[in-house]
Amino acid sequence: MRSENLILKGIRISRDGREAVGGVSLVVGSGEIHLLMGPNGSGKSSLANALMGHPRYRITGGAVRLGEQDLTGLKPEERARAGLFLSMQYPPEVSGVVLSEFLRQVVSAPHDRPVGVSEFREDLERQADALGLDRSLLDRGLNEGFSGGEKKRAEMLQLVMMRPKFAVLDETDSGLDVDGLKTVTTAVDGLRRSGTGFLIITHQSAVARHLSPDRVHVMVDGRIVETGGPELAERIEREGYEGFR
Ligand SMILES: Nc1ncnc2c1ncn2[C@@H]1O[C@H](COP(=O)(O)OP(=O)(O)OP(=O)(O)O)[C@@H](O)[C@H]1O
Ligand SMILES: [Mg+2]
Repeated sequence: MRSENLILKGIRISRDGREAVGGVSLVVGSGEIHLLMGPNGSGKSSLANALMGHPRYRITGGAVRLGEQDLTGLKPEERARAGLFLSMQYPPEVSGVVLSEFLRQVVSAPHDRPVGVSEFREDLERQADALGLDRSLLDRGLNEGFSGGEKKRAEMLQLVMMRPKFAVLDETDSGLDVDGLKTVTTAVDGLRRSGTGFLIITHQSAVARHLSPDRVHVMVDGRIVETGGPELAERIEREGYEGFR
């Protein structure tokens, strides 16, 4: 994989006319893990959704680039094709779309030809097993009736099957049991080694201990107020966000 950076340059985002993010700049390199932490309502999900091109989150200033490619004006599916992946804080339920078929289509899309059914199924079941996701969920509607933790594991399954250049994970760790957290961090670490870069939104300092991130950013009121190493996550656990406001 050619080395490229995910570059956010002075990103401003508004939702329903209200500014949620006011000028965020950061650079995530291939194979790097950046954590984004911050109090509730500080604009983290707004940033994640806008990066993926969610129509309700308007980028009103700045630019998003993946290597040389400017993603700022692109549609969500074009951003995905460029190699960007988002795992949402609240993955929607989509009835009538079977998880395994959905995954086969998203994995096939970049190749312009469908991936073979049996070959794909084998790979999918192996990855589902590794993520502790019951195989029977593969044949259910996407997230339909899935428990909170099952939804998160299904998001991770999509991630490992797609192997994007960059992934934005919005609280994928929340609601997972201890085994689930370990499984997710192991999967993230495996992808990181093969070059995927990560921007991981989390409230848990334990994630920093599991993943040894390259950078930890703290967002308050729509701005990054401090950037440091894993010790920043420990400081947040000890002192809360009081000292950052
Ligand atoms: N439609 C809207 N109108 C006005 N304000 C909104 C709207 N949607 C979101 N907001 C506000 O934007 C702010 C940022 O929300 P966002 O979801 O980005 O926060 P967050 O950092 O992800 O929080 P959490 O840690 O709780 O997930 C919040 O104060 C939220 O209430
Ligand atoms: Mg959020």
